Amino acid sequence: MSKQRAQWSGHLGFILAAAGSAIGLGNLWKFPYITFENNGGAFVLVYLAAIAVVGVPIMVAEVLIGRKSQRNPVGAFRVLVQGKPGGRAWMGVGFLGVMTGFIILSYYCVIAGWTLRYILMAVSGELGALAHHPEALQSFFGEFLANPYQQILCHSLFMGATIGVVFFGVGKGIERTARFLMPILLSILVMLVIYSIWTPGFKQAIGFLFRPNFSELTAGGVLEALGHSFFTLSLGMGTMLTYGSYMRKRDSIPRAALTICVLDTLIAIMACIIMFSIIFSYDFEVTKSSTILFTTVPVVFFQLPGGAVVSALFYLLVAFAALTSTISLLEVVSSYAIDELGWGRRRAALTTGSAIFVFGILSAVSMGGNAALSNINFIGRPSTGGVFGTLDYMASNWFLPVGGLLIALFVGWILTTGETRKELEEGHGTLARLYPVWLFLIRFAAPAAVAAIIVSVLLGAEYQ
Ligand code: PFF
Repeated sequence: MSKQRAQWSGHLGFILAAAGSAIGLGNLWKFPYITFENNGGAFVLVYLAAIAVVGVPIMVAEVLIGRKSQRNPVGAFRVLVQGKPGGRAWMGVGFLGVMTGFIILSYYCVIAGWTLRYILMAVSGELGALAHHPEALQSFFGEFLANPYQQILCHSLFMGATIGVVFFGVGKGIERTARFLMPILLSILVMLVIYSIWTPGFKQAIGFLFRPNFSELTAGGVLEALGHSFFTLSLGMGTMLTYGSYMRKRDSIPRAALTICVLDTLIAIMACIIMFSIIFSYDFEVTKSSTILFTTVPVVFFQLPGGAVVSALFYLLVAFAALTSTISLLEVVSSYAIDELGWGRRRAALTTGSAIFVFGILSAVSMGGNAALSNINFIGRPSTGGVFGTLDYMASNWFLPVGGLLIALFVGWILTTGETRKELEEGHGTLARLYPVWLFLIRFAAPAAVAAIIVSVLLGAEYQ
């Protein structure tokens, strides 16, 4: 590669872009609904433990591989494995990552597209009219999902926006978008949390989230919490690796990784507080938890003053959060095409984005638009929810944890301590002194936790 690699403008640029990748539908849509399905408390605790023991050290490891190698996930392993045990086989981890990015983006964009429809409806007053009759909103949503044209249209608009950003590159596209959107996103979220403190369900929401009841926890739930900690932090498929490859050498990796993990976790908890306060404030039967964000939340927004404004702001927030994540997913696949296939950035963004869009059509029409695709399930599981649910199940519960496990083993055992220590010592003296703690986590604790959970699920085959 003769051209100089693009870089973030500085420490904050990296943090905003990477936090933008981490904070997304995982925090605002998925975490609240899986927490609801797994009965709160104990599940939240396992999730927090997974972030601390597995998420933070692997985040450091991924960024380290990226910055050290200055490459995309596949190229990174090719450069770093020279003369090491396992050799080029490690490149498989990079390939797995690029493939996982392709898969996740294909269905993620479909859900992200829903927010566009909702913003439009909030502004036009349509949402207000529907939200006054919860059953009407439910059936509207069902029809919307079952309408393949609308699904594909929203999916295409969101993918178009994603391609547009990646097309302009690291500085002018990704960093500029994150710098603009992240502060807006944080402000809207803080406003909504303050708003929820005055709702009658606030206390119950806090109890639901923080009072653990371990008898409610299943092995499947533990796997889900672990898988979600990877998904929400964008770990296990080379996203943080790719973003790390644009990081300046003098910036501190541990400081950035910690900041991103803390921000992401806070936002997931805030999203739960907002949503559960709403659910518990009104005597509401939540029938299908995965749609809380689109069927329950608006009803309640419109029972309060300023419903149209609050809901428009809210869906805008979700759309922004999703966009800073979709661009990171596309960047993984594009950077692979740029570095490994020698394509120009524009060609890479357009071609890989279009291919993912086409594949995503399967998910878009599997929401009820096409019976055959809606009925496909993961082997051995009674219901993963069609193509969309099956892809999400495979990617988040299996590909990301397995990718993360291999990344931990690679950084902990294949790279030498000389190599890793040097990369982590930059920029922040105090955190650099925690190196032995990180080394212990990445060598022993993180791989053991991930492996133990994977094995226990495989042996027990306990699917919820
Ligand atoms: N972290 C994102 C979220 O929580 O919505 C989703 C995601 C983005 C997963 C990028 C994986 C990834 F590489």
